[in-house]
Amino acid sequence: LALTSLVVVPGIIFIAVLFGTVGQRIMLASQRASGEVSGQIAENLSGIQVAKAFNREDELAEHLMSLNQKAYRYGFRFMILMTSMQPLMAAIGQFAIAAMLFVAGSLAVGVLPLLSFGDIFLGISLVRGIMFPLLGLSMMATQVQSSLAAMDRVTDVLESKPAITDAPNAVALRPENDGIYFKNVVFEYLKDTPVLKNVTFSINPGETVAIVGHTGAGKTTIAALVNRFYDPKEGAIFIGDQNIRDVQLHSLHHAMSLIPQEPYLFDDTVMENIRYGKPDATDEEIMELCTMIGADEFIEVLANGYSTRVIQSGKNLSAGQRQMITIARTMLANPKILILDEATSRLDAYSESLVQDAQELLFHDRTTVVIAHRLTTIANASRVLVFDHGVLVEQGTIEELLAKNGAFKAVYETYYAHQGIEEITEERLEVARTVVAQQGGVKSEGSESGAAK
Ligand SMILES: Nc1ncnc2c1ncn2[C@@H]1O[C@H](COP(=O)(O)OP(=O)(O)OP(=O)(O)O)[C@@H](O)[C@H]1O
Ligand SMILES: [Mg+2]
Repeated sequence: LALTSLVVVPGIIFIAVLFGTVGQRIMLASQRASGEVSGQIAENLSGIQVAKAFNREDELAEHLMSLNQKAYRYGFRFMILMTSMQPLMAAIGQFAIAAMLFVAGSLAVGVLPLLSFGDIFLGISLVRGIMFPLLGLSMMATQVQSSLAAMDRVTDVLESKPAITDAPNAVALRPENDGIYFKNVVFEYLKDTPVLKNVTFSINPGETVAIVGHTGAGKTTIAALVNRFYDPKEGAIFIGDQNIRDVQLHSLHHAMSLIPQEPYLFDDTVMENIRYGKPDATDEEIMELCTMIGADEFIEVLANGYSTRVIQSGKNLSAGQRQMITIARTMLANPKILILDEATSRLDAYSESLVQDAQELLFHDRTTVVIAHRLTTIANASRVLVFDHGVLVEQGTIEELLAKNGAFKAVYETYYAHQGIEEITEERLEVARTVVAQQGGVKSEGSESGAAK
C-alpha cells in the first residue's frame, strides 16, 4: 500500500529539478537585472549635472525605465515560479493520497477484504507523515539551488586575487635606496597595444624631474608603474639598486607617495583627510604643517574649518582646496620619493601661486617626479623628460630642450605657452593677492606667507 504512494516520487523529483534549474536561471537573470538598475541609478546620480547640461535627463530616465522593466519582468517570473511551487507540490501530495485511497479502497471492499478501515486509516496517516516532509525537502532543495546561484556571484568577487603581490622572496626596501631607474621598460594594458615602448631613464636621489607630453603619452602610466600598480611586460624598474618586483609592496609604498591626477578625498573631516598621511599625527602637528604650506588659508574659510566634512569625495570644496588638502596629506606622510600627477585644472592665479609655493616645499630635497601641466612646475624641475606616444623622445634642462627646437618646444608652444603663465609676473601676483585680501576672502597674514617665496 505504502508503495502506491511512491508512484508520485518521480513526479516530485522531476518538478524539484525543473524548478531548481529553471528557477536558478531566472533568479540569476533577475539579480543581474536589479544590479543593472542600481548601477544605472548610481551613475545617473553622479553624472546628473552633465546630463542636465546636455539636456539628456529624459533619455537617462527612459533608459533607467527600460532596465527597471526588465528587472521587474524577471522578478515577476521568479515570484510566479516560487509561489506556484507550493500549490503544485501540495496537489501532487493530494494526488498520491487519492491514488492510495483508490487502491486501498478496492482492496478493502473486494471479494475478500484484505484491509480493515483501521489499516487504511493508519496507512494514510503514515504516508501523510512521510509525504509532506518529503515535499518540504524538495522545496528546500530548490531554495538551496537558487541561493547557490547567488553565492556564485559573491564567490566571483571573493575569489578574485590581486594581480600584483609580494614575490615569495620579497625584502623590504632598504632605507639608503633612493632614486628611480627605468631600464628598457615595455608596458601594455591590452595585449599588443604597447603604451610604453622601451623606456629608459634615471632620476637621481633628491632630484626633481618633470615629465611632459601630450595627452595619452603614457605619463600617468609611469606613475602607476613606479608604484607597482602594474608590472612591466619587459624591462625593470629600480629604486636605488633594488628591483621593485623584489621589494615588499608595503615598504615600497611607505617610501613613496603618489598625488594622483584626480586627488581623492574621503567622506570625513578635512582634519582626518590630512591625517590619512600619518595616522598618529596630532591636531597641532597638522595645523602647524598647514600654516607652513599656506593651506590654513583655504581651510579656515570653510564653514567649520578643519572639522568641515568633505562630502562626495570633495564636491563641497574648490579645486584649489582639494589640492591643498592632498598636498598637506602627502607632506605629513613625508615620503622619500614623491610622484605628483599634476591636474590640468586651471586655478586662479592666486590659488595657483599658493599651490605652487606648497608644491615647492613638497619637492624640496626629495626625489620627485612631477607630471607637469604648469609651466611654473616645469621651471622648478632640474630636468625634463618628454614623452610622445609611449616613447621617451627628449630629455634635458629646459634651456637645452628649448634650444633643441624639437618635441619639447612643440609641446611647450601648443599648451604651456597658451596658458600664458609666463606673463604672470610677481608684480601681477601681488596685485591679485591685494584684491583678494581686500575682499576679505582670505586673511592678509596668510597672503604674506603665500607671497614669501
Ligand atoms: N586602465 C587602462 N586600460 C587600458 N588602457 C589604458 C588604461 N589607462 C590608460 N590607458 C591608455 O594608455 C595610454 C596612456 O595613458 P596615460 O593615462 O598614461 O596618459 P597620460 O600621458 O597620463 O595622459 P594625460 O595627460 O591625459 O593625463 C592611453 O592611450 C590610454 O588610453
Ligand atoms: Mg595622466
